[in-house]
Amino acid sequence: MPVELREVISPAAIRARIAEMGREISALYGDEPVVAVCVLKGAFMFFADLVRSLSINPEVDFLRVTSYGKSQSRTGTISLTKDLEVEIEGKHVLVVEDIVDTGHTACFLLDTLRVRRPRSLRLCSLIDKKERREVECGVDFVGFSVQEGFLVGYGLDFAELYRHLDAVCELVRDEPNGTNRADTAEEPDA
Ligand code: IMP
Ligand code: MG
Repeated sequence: MPVELREVISPAAIRARIAEMGREISALYGDEPVVAVCVLKGAFMFFADLVRSLSINPEVDFLRVTSYGKSQSRTGTISLTKDLEVEIEGKHVLVVEDIVDTGHTACFLLDTLRVRRPRSLRLCSLIDKKERREVECGVDFVGFSVQEGFLVGYGLDFAELYRHLDAVCELVRDEPNGTNRADTAEEPDA
């Protein structure tokens, strides 16, 4: 099936926005202890660029969540497959996500980490797809708001492919009966 990639966010736009976010986040935390948490796999590239834009000195750690089945939007189908290694109690925690779509993954993550009693818990996402939100848990820092479409690149995947691209692109599959966006056909993985 033919696949078309349409650039939605250029590498230059990503760089510029991350520089702004880095200043904003650094100013907020100042000298206080912060743990920056990368949500694997999708956030790996954004996380690497974001932490380098910070003028603070955060601990960095990684976790991985997996959503499975076609019922991803239902709670209970998301699980933590790799947990943090650092203690977060009493520390500011910044969770760094690639994209908040229905919101279920982000809410699951925040609920999971909140019980460990961090000093504060905030969410930073490269992309906010508000149109598809089913549960709201509050995104504190948003890189870009995007209306719709299935996005790949800069960490985001379709069936584990396209993560390496340095731009965020919309993946469009041309069906014989017209244009069909990929997110209507396939469940994304985290
Ligand atoms: P949720 O629907 O907000 O729970 O998002 C679940 C996960 O699906 C996100 O963390 C992403 O990893 C992935 N995801 C959601 N939308 C897209 C997309 O447009 N492209 C690639 N991955 C996506
Ligand atoms: Mg993700």
